[in-house]
Amino acid sequence: MDSDAVKKPKTDRTLKISFIGSGAVNFGGAEGPWDHSKRLEQLGGVEFVAIVDPLVEKARDVLEKKMAGAYAHLYTNCKVLTDYRELLSMGDNKPDAAFIGIPPFCHGSYNNDIELQLVKAGVHVFVEKPISVQPPEEVQPYVEELSRIAKEQGLIVSVAYMFRYHDAINKMKEIITEHGRPLMTIKVSYNCAYAELDHSFWWDVKKSGGPIVEQATHLCDLVRYLGGEVDTSQLTGLAIPASDEPSEVGYLSTVPAVVNEQKVPVNDRIPRLTTAQWKFTNGTVGTLTHGVTLLCQRYEANIDIWADGLRIALEEPYYPECRLRVRRGYTDEEQVYRFPNADPYYKEDEAFLTAVRTGDSSFIKSSYEDAYKTYSLTWAVRQASTTH
Ligand SMILES: NC(=O)c1ccc[n+]([C@@H]2O[C@H](COP(=O)([O-])OP(=O)(O)OC[C@H]3O[C@@H](n4cnc5c(N)ncnc54)[C@H](O)[C@@H]3O)[C@@H](O)[C@H]2O)c1
Repeated sequence: MDSDAVKKPKTDRTLKISFIGSGAVNFGGAEGPWDHSKRLEQLGGVEFVAIVDPLVEKARDVLEKKMAGAYAHLYTNCKVLTDYRELLSMGDNKPDAAFIGIPPFCHGSYNNDIELQLVKAGVHVFVEKPISVQPPEEVQPYVEELSRIAKEQGLIVSVAYMFRYHDAINKMKEIITEHGRPLMTIKVSYNCAYAELDHSFWWDVKKSGGPIVEQATHLCDLVRYLGGEVDTSQLTGLAIPASDEPSEVGYLSTVPAVVNEQKVPVNDRIPRLTTAQWKFTNGTVGTLTHGVTLLCQRYEANIDIWADGLRIALEEPYYPECRLRVRRGYTDEEQVYRFPNADPYYKEDEAFLTAVRTGDSSFIKSSYEDAYKTYSLTWAVRQASTTH
């Protein structure tokens, strides 16, 4: 169901929201357009009851800034907590929903079962990608148990693959459906601007899962969303490992000093470039390239789709400059679609709140079970391309 569809709400009372993690994805930062708190403030109908982070000073700082801003009234009853378990004994102020935005190794398995405990306690969950860093075969029973309990209790669990809510992706889906012919190839590439990527966990494969599991996961999710399931048995990959030697291809000149990459064991350092190729179950060929290449702040991500009589090129999906170039039918001309006002973060948060209010999970475009399939694909790319 389209998240824009109008449904009669089951509840229109103010929803109590908690943030788990006081970092960039929940409260914004220099690195990109993400910031759930900003979108939730704009959406309204919510109040914030807690910010959970073991880094208490950081969480307090975030709350202080919010209390000085235009939406201070939404934070009047907001507490800073160090452990998510404290949320569950907040009595009348127990959150209806939690936004989990913490390093990947801190959740998503029976060892760190935050989302499972929240669901068991009757809390709706919005959780950031990637869903875990453990091997998929260990994650699978966790996903199954969580999904079963959520269904039994009528709870919403949404995974933050926000591009599924992007107007350009919807347009691509529409064009592919209208074309009606199988795709020949989907080529995706993702180059991150690494010089200001100062989250230490990101540079350690054991903590982030590596750049495919943590970052290119967005494009792995979209190839499934646009092209169907991948036959991972035929998937192959290559990677350029990290190197300390300036003369070698895996050397990076501008890793943020705060990361202190020398402390990460050599085998756990992230690969600098990863490629993979595969066939989808319907015969389409897919290829992926991820690079840790760019300086400054701007990421570059692209999707290139080719079929008999069709070419679709998506450029700059993170930014207002996002373009879709389409050549279809018997013509040399291309149509260019632009999406200056698209805000997939707003749309995914809106869909989540609507699903929570109505109890209708069909507003959610990325369920926990479906996100597990994307997770398995990213893990297959990681395994095929590196020794990690
Ligand atoms: N969808 C997107 O576009 C997008 C963008 C950025 C980040 N993310 C994802 O969001 C997650 C967090 O990334 P970030 O950039 O916000 O990281 P961050 O380092 O800026 O913030 C993470 C915060 O979580 C806190 N934390 C760690 N363990 C915790 C726990 N058990 N309970 C509560 N807080 C805890 C840390 O102290 C830190 O303050 C990652 O999985 C990342 O992939 C997604």
